[in-house]
Amino acid sequence: MNSTTDILKQDAHLIQSFADLNALKEQGARTVINRAEGAYVYDNDGQKMIDGIAGLWCVNIGHGRQEMVDAIADQLKQLDYYSTFYNFTHPTAAALAEKVADLAPGDLNAVYFANSGSVANDTAIRMLHHYNIRKGKPEKNKVLSRHGAYHGSTHLSMALTTPAYSEGWHCASELVHHLRAPHHWREGDGMTEAEFLDALAEDLTQSIEHLGAENICAFIAEPIQGAGGVIAAPAGYHRRMQDICRANEIKFVADEVVTAFGRLGHFFASEAVFDTTPDIICTAKGLTSGYQPMSATIVTDEIHDVISGPGGMFLHGMTYSGHPAASAAALTNIAIMEREQIPERVRTTGAYFEKLMRGLMDIELVGEVRGSHFMIGIEFVMDRATKASHPPEAEVGLKVARACQKRGLIARPLGNVLILSPTLIMDEPMIDEIEAILRDAIEEVAAGL
Ligand SMILES: Cc1ncc(COP(=O)(O)O)c(C=O)c1O
Repeated sequence: MNSTTDILKQDAHLIQSFADLNALKEQGARTVINRAEGAYVYDNDGQKMIDGIAGLWCVNIGHGRQEMVDAIADQLKQLDYYSTFYNFTHPTAAALAEKVADLAPGDLNAVYFANSGSVANDTAIRMLHHYNIRKGKPEKNKVLSRHGAYHGSTHLSMALTTPAYSEGWHCASELVHHLRAPHHWREGDGMTEAEFLDALAEDLTQSIEHLGAENICAFIAEPIQGAGGVIAAPAGYHRRMQDICRANEIKFVADEVVTAFGRLGHFFASEAVFDTTPDIICTAKGLTSGYQPMSATIVTDEIHDVISGPGGMFLHGMTYSGHPAASAAALTNIAIMEREQIPERVRTTGAYFEKLMRGLMDIELVGEVRGSHFMIGIEFVMDRATKASHPPEAEVGLKVARACQKRGLIARPLGNVLILSPTLIMDEPMIDEIEAILRDAIEEVAAGL
């Protein structure tokens, strides 16, 4: 095994994602994860840590499942690679497409596979552009998104993402309009939740009037905003937005990259939790539990009928779309979830996790605990009454994350917010342990501020 020093010397050539690349040059700034098993990961020096973020909201079934490794290896022995371009297909992608269509709500029956959530969202928009061109409405191409959204890091998915993530960068901003973030605690401005919901609906209605429904192809939304700070909208928000979109012939796209495959207690959250029937669902992450890179853009029969009608080519393709190894990983991952009833179990264990996390509100530094089940954000504040934030240089989220890591828990800092999105195989004693570590870490940081 290479020493941590040797690995970090090699790692100087690696560019990390979403990182202060300069700060990473400091000694001790990087963590080398070397091994993982179940709900735990181990660093290169052998420290065992609870994986409180499931890799990156993705290792839903837990790490190190031999069954997954065998399925991927068996597939590679049978067929290592073939594309799904032109007239080609292969049995594993076909079986997975049927399975995903079966799990997805409503008449979402056609699936485009790719390798990341970013590309799943790009694909949704490109597909809708193609759809509208075929319907003789090429100008119906703009997209409504929201402040606080995270939809990915390709050029288009970053344009859909909250502008806070792309300050100063040129994005396809002419295509995207950002609506208000649906965050009552921060944005509610003295309104009740019901009044705030009315204001959000009004914002959507006015934006449609301003841009013209004839110019808008889609409204895209995560059921719960994730990397924008774990923001759960007021009850009834998604259904209300969907109804306004439907009345204006604007497609409702649900970005379920994080929320699908069990994290909120269901294979898909759109219908089961949020009472919506999207025209497109994009997903990734939990689809393979991270054992292989894969995403899916799932569209309704109606959209599929238009793009597969006579007299047109669908000019979109990714070399690894429906990759055999990724398809095998997804099929086995879904089989494990069904056999072990992981989404069903999350309805109990996730509710327990949420309850314990909300209990951290008794620490003065904690301003809001939000999210649902195994998707939780904890926002730290300087003053709970005024909700005043610590300045960025106080690095409160980072300090709490480091204090957690020291105690054997990986959590993800995002400014003044700490994100928890563990594997879905947590039992109550493990959840108790996470809570105890968090409480201790937050209190230590609070005492030092
Ligand atoms: C809601 C959501 N959409 C899209 C993405 C982008 O997925 P990927 O990183 O696989 O491109 C993410 C990633 O975290 C996400 O959370």
